[in-house]
Amino acid sequence: MNKYNSLNINKKYKILFVCLGNICRSPAAHAVMQRLVDEAGLTNQFEIDSAGIGGWHVGQLPDERMRRHGRKRGYRIDHRARQFSARRDFPYYDAIYVMDEENYRIVTSRAESEEEKSKVCRLSDYLTEHRAATVPDPYYGGPEDFEYALDLIEDACGGLLRQFTGV
Ligand code: 4NP
Repeated sequence: MNKYNSLNINKKYKILFVCLGNICRSPAAHAVMQRLVDEAGLTNQFEIDSAGIGGWHVGQLPDERMRRHGRKRGYRIDHRARQFSARRDFPYYDAIYVMDEENYRIVTSRAESEEEKSKVCRLSDYLTEHRAATVPDPYYGGPEDFEYALDLIEDACGGLLRQFTGV
């Protein structure tokens, strides 16, 4: 018996995290969600990736500050940045989780159907311990901004996984 009653064990859930640059928030969410999924024994049920709206950092490792703050919490944040492709990513992924309203506006504006648009979700909607409408960009901030982004991401990814598993 599948202990995760909302999860279809015959399906692989393909999820994509998107932020502006794909070097701070979305690669962190990607690493956090991958660890939660692995710890739940659900590695084979999820395919997780991240992408950026802009192409400035394509091919680069995440921002060293996010890597360092993540490392302190036991995450290896080592995704190589890639740019979001509406043409390829909308059909491929089941759901796309964005970090803030600007991300939401830009990504939804590139959807070609209501079905594609409905795949775009705000990661902050899955927060359970924090109250925040967005995961703010820490790029121009200090260490506390990276810690806060990770606090929100850990909270929301936990809520997101529970939404999938129903437990
Ligand atoms: P992210 O942060 O969207 O969380 O990856 C940013 C990283 C880089 C830039 C903007 C936001 N940038 O303008 O280069």
